[in-house]
Amino acid sequence: MNTRQTATPLFTCLREHAAKNPVQFHIPGHKKGQGMDPEFREFFGEAPLSIDLINIEPLDDLHHPHGVIQEAQELAAEAFGADYTFFSVQGTSGAIMTMVMTVLHPGEKIIVPRNVHKSVLSAIILAGGHPIFVHPVMDEQLGIAHGVTRKDVERTLILHPDAKAVLLINPTYYGVAAHLEEIVECVHHYGIPVLVDEAHGVLTHFHEGLPISAMQAGADMAATSVHKLGGSLTQSSVLNVRAERINPQRVQSIISMLTTTSTSYLLMASLDAARRHLAIHGHQLAQHALTLADTARRRINEIPGLHCVGRELLGAEATYALDETKLIIHLERMNLTGYEAEKWLRKNWNIEVELSDLYNILCLVTPGDDDGTIQILVDALKELSDTFYIEEQREGTPVRIPEIPLLTVSPRDAFYAETVSIPFTESAGRIIAEFIMIYPPGIPVLLPGEQITQENIDYILEHLEAGLPVQGPEDPHIQMVRVIKDW
Ligand SMILES: Cc1ncc(COP(=O)(O)O)c(C=O)c1O
Repeated sequence: MNTRQTATPLFTCLREHAAKNPVQFHIPGHKKGQGMDPEFREFFGEAPLSIDLINIEPLDDLHHPHGVIQEAQELAAEAFGADYTFFSVQGTSGAIMTMVMTVLHPGEKIIVPRNVHKSVLSAIILAGGHPIFVHPVMDEQLGIAHGVTRKDVERTLILHPDAKAVLLINPTYYGVAAHLEEIVECVHHYGIPVLVDEAHGVLTHFHEGLPISAMQAGADMAATSVHKLGGSLTQSSVLNVRAERINPQRVQSIISMLTTTSTSYLLMASLDAARRHLAIHGHQLAQHALTLADTARRRINEIPGLHCVGRELLGAEATYALDETKLIIHLERMNLTGYEAEKWLRKNWNIEVELSDLYNILCLVTPGDDDGTIQILVDALKELSDTFYIEEQREGTPVRIPEIPLLTVSPRDAFYAETVSIPFTESAGRIIAEFIMIYPPGIPVLLPGEQITQENIDYILEHLEAGLPVQGPEDPHIQMVRVIKDW
């Protein structure tokens, strides 16, 4: 570790500025909390309010960094193994939109997994680009989607040699990683950059027992959620960039276009401090989480009816590495769904899980956990098993992936087109203007601009009848669907 990493230029500058107790005639108008609701002020505390500041000269400006923000971003780049790091105060969504809009011009193609986060599709709509989808590999037993394979990416690159970039999710929400290095090498062979949605992978850079990070794998850009697992405040994130194929000036101008001019110094200071903590203690923090998760996994696997997924999952192309701090708890022989288990844990044990689906709950073990929190989870799961265990393995609804429909109109044109609402069962052949997604597997069945087929309609109706949550359309019961008028 470079000793420079002990510094926190932005956080320290803010503290020193606040300590001088300046007389403020600028926004924010609460002026160190004095002008705000007293109950909130008291709850929130004096210290954070004193550094809730704005881009006055001594505090630099995220839009034109040249002082302490620039120094903080340079230290972050060093810590994350990037050439440049850009702070995002608009979450990883903002960083993802910046990545996509940096490489994509109107009418150009980008290769993306079908199960991308909605910020990718928002950016494609804004850029006027054309998504080329690759199916993620489905895990039929767990009912979840993993990553894409090198073979599928390469096949798509051969079919679309004019694509401008490939975007990958690594690792997935469930912590599963593909062989990223191999995919990056393959994409670079075709001369285009790789963008990585690293929303769930901030710790990967700091521990060899976790999947490798996007920067370690040679990717060109990575949107990395420091706030999700790296200890910064919610909404703060970073965009890591390697300059070989990406112009950092363009990244700066695009992130500026998408970012508020009132950038939160609380969020940026928390990024500066989280970077220091990760750079100095990241390995130890990740090890702590891994050790706790290992104990939890072993103990959960002793509970009848539950299976906490581990390294046995690995061995295929899309399941090359696993972030074992994520506990995928599969309700193998339990008479309730993941959604019901989530509610039961909330009601009976005051436990909040990260997510649930039909067959699983996902619990995240982080550096913020200790033996006590793991013990509570294990005790709660034992009681869950005592209450809901069944001898027979439950008949699951088989998780199928629908065929990807034909994208007839660009997502942008569909977004801006005049639309009408028509009965869903009569919509075959029409161009949809909204999203339809089913959980599991959380992969969009239809996206704006795609032509609805009878197969799509049957697939969605079948899943609605099975009681699976269908999300996206204005009409939550999917009686009606919005399509492009006169098409
Ligand atoms: C895979 C993935 N990508 C991107 C995001 C967006 O991150 P943020 O909420 O920081 O904008 C999320 C959020 O949950 C996500 O799960």
